[in-house]
Amino acid sequence: MTHRLRLGVNIDHVATIRNARGGDHPDPVQAALAAARAGADGITAHLREDRRHIRDEDIAALTGELRIPLNLEMAATDEMLEIALRHRPHAACIVPEKREERTTEGGLDAAGQDDLLMRVVERLSGADIRVSLFIEPDPRQVAAAIRLKAPVVELHTGRYAHLDGEARAAELRRIADAAALAARNGIEPHAGHGLTFDNVQPIAAIPHLRELNIGHFLIGEAIFCGLEASVARMRALMDEAR
Ligand code: PXP
Repeated sequence: MTHRLRLGVNIDHVATIRNARGGDHPDPVQAALAAARAGADGITAHLREDRRHIRDEDIAALTGELRIPLNLEMAATDEMLEIALRHRPHAACIVPEKREERTTEGGLDAAGQDDLLMRVVERLSGADIRVSLFIEPDPRQVAAAIRLKAPVVELHTGRYAHLDGEARAAELRRIADAAALAARNGIEPHAGHGLTFDNVQPIAAIPHLRELNIGHFLIGEAIFCGLEASVARMRALMDEAR
């Protein structure tokens, strides 16, 4: 059976635009509420160590005002763990974080950091926060997620988004295989990064996937057609592909 595919809208770049002028407009909470009206099933926000877009007070405001689940993206650090445990979002997605990167450039090396991740997964799960590990679509990384007892993995679609032709088709197969492997082992597979109106449908057609997290393209497209229209069109393309 193919489940409905949820859409998580990442609002980080509404905060990027706000921060460019140091004021309070555009407000990421208002953007999150607009995305929800247009069919988003959840909101994703990445509180980075350098606070370059989302800030601590945004997380507080989002947890207070949202009626749909919040997925907090975070690095596996003590500081972020403490913030997650304080705000108790519905979900937390553990991502690798390097200060100098422009965005999350590769998946987490779950296979190489068992001890650190085990502690973070246990603490978050113990607080009823649904933990997801952002990993490359690689069977070694899925195997690590199984060992770590992560309930969810988010498969990095960044490589897929940047490739074309046969290389893209091969990467799509890797994502589908990783999603199937996760699902067979009781892990809920999600996917995201670099998805657009043009490349979302082959990903949305992968039957085991349960959620896509999409940000930069939707916020950029909102400049031309408005946020609600941009989210609604993505929602429609995903539904059409199932
Ligand atoms: N999923 C994760 C774990 C991410 O780190 C990001 C980027 O913040 C996204 C999804 C969304 O990627 P994009 O902004 O390219 O749609």
